Parts: sequence; C-alpha cells; structure tokens
Amino acid sequence: MHVDDQEAATQADGMLGTEQRAWGFETNFGGLADYTVVRASQLLPKPEHLTWEESACTPLCAGTAYRMLISDRGARIKVGDVVLIWGATGGLGSFAVQLVLAAGGIPVGVVGSPEKAQVLRDLGCRTVIDRSEAGLDLDPEHPSPEQAIEVGKRLGTVIRREVGEDPHVVFDYVGRATFATSVFVARRGGVVVTCGSSSGYHHQYDNRYLWMNLKRVIGSHGANLQEMAECTRLLRLGKLMPVLSTEYPLDQVGEATRLVQQNRHAGKVGVLCLAPKAGLGITAPQAARAARRGPDAHFRSLAPAT
Ligand SMILES: NC(=O)c1ccc[n+]([C@@H]2O[C@H](COP(=O)([O-])OP(=O)(O)OC[C@H]3O[C@@H](n4cnc5c(N)ncnc54)[C@H](OP(=O)(O)O)[C@@H]3O)[C@@H](O)[C@H]2O)c1
Repeated sequence: MHVDDQEAATQADGMLGTEQRAWGFETNFGGLADYTVVRASQLLPKPEHLTWEESACTPLCAGTAYRMLISDRGARIKVGDVVLIWGATGGLGSFAVQLVLAAGGIPVGVVGSPEKAQVLRDLGCRTVIDRSEAGLDLDPEHPSPEQAIEVGKRLGTVIRREVGEDPHVVFDYVGRATFATSVFVARRGGVVVTCGSSSGYHHQYDNRYLWMNLKRVIGSHGANLQEMAECTRLLRLGKLMPVLSTEYPLDQVGEATRLVQQNRHAGKVGVLCLAPKAGLGITAPQAARAARRGPDAHFRSLAPAT
C-alpha cells in the first residue's frame, strides 16, 4: 500500500489516510514490469523459504485476507468460529482457508468445480461445497433478494448438516452474486466481511435479515504495514503457504490475465518479471522443504518442491 506517513490518520492505521493508494491499482506505477517505484514503507523482507513468484502472491491477497479475518479492524475470528468462504481456492480464498485453519476456526469453502474442490481439500478444508452442484448460483443478469433467500436456505441446510451451526463469519468479495445470500446465511450476531465485488458493485439484499438478527457488515481494504508484517511472519513460520497454480514470462502476461479472467486458475498466477525462470529465490532450502511437505504444512504447494 502506498501511504503518506506525514498524514495523522496514517499513524493510527495506514489504510485510513486520505492519500492511501493501492499500489499498481490506484497508482500509475506497479507490478508487471522489470522495475518499479516504491516507498520504503511498502517493503518487507522476503520470506527466505519462498520463491520470487510465491512471495509475489502474498502482499495483496494474504495481507487483505489477514486484515479481513484476524485483525482488530476485521472480523477478529477466534477458535471454533465457523467461517464461510466464497471462492475458497481463489487468490484471497486460498489464504482465507489457511488463516481460518491456523486460527483454530472451521472453514466452509465454496468452489465452482470438482477440480477446485480437490484443491480445497488439499488445503485442509473439510467442508467443501461445489456451488454448481448445490444450486447456489443466482440468476447472473437479475439476482434478486428473494432468490438469494431460497439459495441461502439451501446453503444454510448444507452448512448445518456438515458443521451443525450457522457461520459466525462470511468472507465475501464476490459481491452482487453472493452478498444477499451471505447476509441471510450468517448467524444471529454474525459478520459479513467484504473487500470487493467481482460480480457487480450494486448489491441488493433484504435488510431485515441484517438488522433483526443484529448482524454486521465490515468493509475492508488491503492491509496496513503492521498487519502485513504480522501476516508475513505467519508465512515465515510456515502457517501460510501461497497457492500458485502456474507461472508465465512477462511477455505472456496477456495469457496469464486471460486465465484469471476465465476463472480457470487456483490461487494465484505468477508472472516472472526479472526472474529468468521459476523456482528461484529460495535462500532457506530446509525450511522450503518443510513448508511444502512437513507435518505442520496445511498445504502441499502446487509448485514443485526444491
Ligand atoms: N480490497 C482489497 O484490498 C482487495 C484485495 C484483493 C482482491 N480484492 C478483490 O477481491 C476479488 C477477488 O480477488 P482474487 O484475487 O481472490 O480473485 P480470483 O482469484 O479470481 O478469485 C475469485 C473467485 O471468485 C469465485 N467466483 C466467481 N464468480 C462467482 C460467483 N458467481 N459466485 C460465487 N463465486 C464466484 C471463483 O470461485 P469458484 O468459481 O471456484 O466458485 C474464484 O475463485 C476481486 O474483485 C478483487 O478486486 C480486493
């Protein structure tokens, strides 16, 4: 995140500064280039056991999921919390599943295909729901709050059958296609935490299910430096592992983007900028092997072990 450290609000929370910008998204310089411009406050030591491309997976999605779920400014999950995660093998979702497991929570992951269901099981998520099989997709053109309630009842029945309770927290960045269902399915007093709207920014939902059941919606964005440092520590400790499905050279960045656009990836897609080939950058090979294969590893990386 690109912040102005002379701003008072930044001293309390970097994400609250009015000059805060998402680097490469709201600034005109960023990734997908040989060189870029950053401020010192954007830099953290690279985890020694990760490759360059694995490390590149982490600042945007791991940090954002960390703030949404763990931080005081997010849902602050605790041991035993049931957390429903849409798109649970996506960039954000794959970190969210691992964070819930690391925090002693119970992840309930939704995915869109049998292949992704397998990736989700490999991540250690026991409750896996395929949204196409479970009939969870709203009409993409005209998703209505009424239809969302029907879908929410179906989803709620599956979750109660599988884990015995309604979710404490719903992790939602899909937006228009899922938000009304998320509000419905969260338990009384529960939280919907959102950081995006991939399927559309204008959400329609039945507000009675929110206020009558004392639920909350938390808007979240990125992570401040402290949250990112805490999250990077979890990576270093092997509590989190990037899910990297494939890499492309910089001159094929269009193909990489197309893969994500068509929702055919799991986790993140790497683009090698200065690295001449994949798999470089590890300076702690023993830790690298342990993180991929060790008994505490939640997930066996999709990338080959070194
Ligand atoms: N505010 C922030 O700081 C911040 C940070 C990172 C990302 N974001 C935003 O978060 C969103 C996700 O980013 P990402 O990198 O995780 O993307 P991603 O890797 O493309 O993941 C998106 C996931 O959405 C799921 N999905 C797509 N259509 C769906 C639908 N109709 N119903 C349910 N699930 C659906 C897909 O899962 P299945 O097909 O398997 O269900 C897919 O895995 C983007 O909008 C991004 O801009 C915001």
